[in-house]
Amino acid sequence: MVLLELVLALVFGFLLLCCGLLRWNEVRYRKKGLPPGTMGWPLFGETTEFLKQGPNFMKNQRARYGNFFKSHILGCPTVVCMDPEINKYILMNESKGLVPGYPQSMLDILGECNIAAVTGPLHKSMKNAMLGLINPSMMREQLLPKVDEFMRSHLSNWSEKVIDIQEKTKEMALYSALKQIAGIESGPVSEALKSELFQLVLGTLSLPINLPGTNYRRAFQARRKIVEILKEIIGKRRISHSSQLDMLDLLLKTDDNMKSKLTEEQIIDLIIALIYSGYETVSTTTMMAVKFLHDHPRALQQLREEHFEIRKGKSTEEGIDWNDYKSMTFTRAVIFETLRLATVVNGVLRKTTQDIEMKGFLIPKGWRIYVYTREINYDPYLYNEPLIFNPWRWMDRNLDSHQYFMLFGGGSRLCPGKELGTVEIATFLHYFVTRYRWEEVGVATIHKFPRVEAPHGLHIRVESY
Ligand code: HEM
Repeated sequence: MVLLELVLALVFGFLLLCCGLLRWNEVRYRKKGLPPGTMGWPLFGETTEFLKQGPNFMKNQRARYGNFFKSHILGCPTVVCMDPEINKYILMNESKGLVPGYPQSMLDILGECNIAAVTGPLHKSMKNAMLGLINPSMMREQLLPKVDEFMRSHLSNWSEKVIDIQEKTKEMALYSALKQIAGIESGPVSEALKSELFQLVLGTLSLPINLPGTNYRRAFQARRKIVEILKEIIGKRRISHSSQLDMLDLLLKTDDNMKSKLTEEQIIDLIIALIYSGYETVSTTTMMAVKFLHDHPRALQQLREEHFEIRKGKSTEEGIDWNDYKSMTFTRAVIFETLRLATVVNGVLRKTTQDIEMKGFLIPKGWRIYVYTREINYDPYLYNEPLIFNPWRWMDRNLDSHQYFMLFGGGSRLCPGKELGTVEIATFLHYFVTRYRWEEVGVATIHKFPRVEAPHGLHIRVESY
C-alpha cells in the first residue's frame, strides 16, 4: 500500500514537473508581437515531434495557428513560414537581415568559408567564382562532355544483375562531381573521398556534440581527411605545368585581372560545398525518378521515345551534345515533377540579424525562420491533383517560371548548380532508359522526411533493352 502511494506520488510529481516546465517555456517566449504557436520543452523544444511526425506536425500546427507560427526546433526558437508570398519576400531580402541560418553542426563541418555560411562581399565573390565554373558556356563546352563520358562508363555492365539503385545514384553524384572538379577518376583517391564524404554528410545533420562515437565527431575527422587529400591534390597541381581543364585548374589559375582571388582555404571550402550541395539532391532525385518511371509506364514510354529519337543516327559510343540536351523537354518535365512530388528539398533556413517585422508580427534578432516550401509542392491551386505523378503538367504551362517555383530556392541564394544538376540527371536517364529495362525486386521502404531515402536500398533487376 505504502509502495503504491509512493509510486502515485512520484508519477504525480513527475507530471506536475512536466506541466511546470512546459508552462515555463511558453511564458518565457510570450513576448508581445510574436506569432502564435507552441515552444515545447526547454532546450529540446518540439524537435522530437518535428522529426517523428515531420510534415504531419507542420500540417497540425498550421491547422491550429495558420501558415506563420512559432516553434522551437533543432535547438533554436524558430518561425515556420508556409505563406508563399512571405517565403518569396524572405528569400529576396537577405540584405534586410534575413541571412542563411543553417545548424551549427553543418557550418562547423562544411567550413567557415563555405558558401552557405558567408554573407555580403565574401558571398558575392565565392558565388562569382562558382558561377565562373558552371556558367552556360562551361556547361556546353566542358561539363556536359565530361558528364556524358562519365555516365557512359558508370552505366555499363548493369545487365542481368540486381543492383541497389540508391547506391548507384549516390556513387554517380559523387564520382561525377569529382571528375568535373579535379579530374579524379574512379580509383583509390575517389574511394577514400567516398567513405569520408558519406561520413561528413551524416554529421551535418547531427547534434553538435563533440564526443567520441558521435556522428558530429566522426564528420569532423572526415573533414580533416578530406582537407588533407584536397591539399595534396592542390599541391601537385601547383607544381604541374600541364593544364587539366577542370574546375580546380580554373580556381588556381593566376589571373591578375581577377578582382578577388580566393585563398587556398576558401578554394577547399568551395570544393567541399560543390560536392556536398549537389550530392544528395542529385542522387535522390535520380533515384526517385527511376522509382516514379517504374510505377508509371506511360511516362517511361514517352521518355524512352524522346531518348531513342536523340540516339537516331548516333553510334553506340557516340555521346550527347548540348543540342541533344536542350531537346529533352519531357526529361526536364520528369525531373521537375520528381523534385516536386518527392520533395527532395523541404525548405531552407534563414536567421534574423535584427528584430524584423513581418506579417504584423515581430521576429526577434537571432531567431531562425524555416522557409517551408514543401506545402507549395502540393498546393491544388498550383498543381491540379497534386499527389499524382504527372510530368505532362510541366509541358503545357510555364510552371518553372511561376513566381512560387522554389524547387531550387530563390533570391541571391538561388541554386547555382540548377542546370548542372539537371544535366547530370538527364544524362543518367538517357543512358539508363536507352540501355536497360528494369523491375523492382521486393517492396522497398522509402522515407520521405526529414530526407528522402530508402533505408534498406531500392533493389532493381536490370536487363538489356
Ligand atoms: C536537383 C538538384 C538540386 C537541387 C534540388 C538543389 C536545390 C538547392 C536549393 C533549394 C538551394 C537554396 C538553399 C538556400 O536558399 O539556403 C540550393 C543552393 C545551392 N546549391 Fe543546389 N540544388 C541542386 C543541385 C546542385 C548542384 C549539382 C550543385 C553544385 C554544382 C549545387 C550547389 C548549390 C550551392 C553552392 C548552393 C548555395 C548557394 C548560395 O548559398 O549562394 N546544387 N540548391
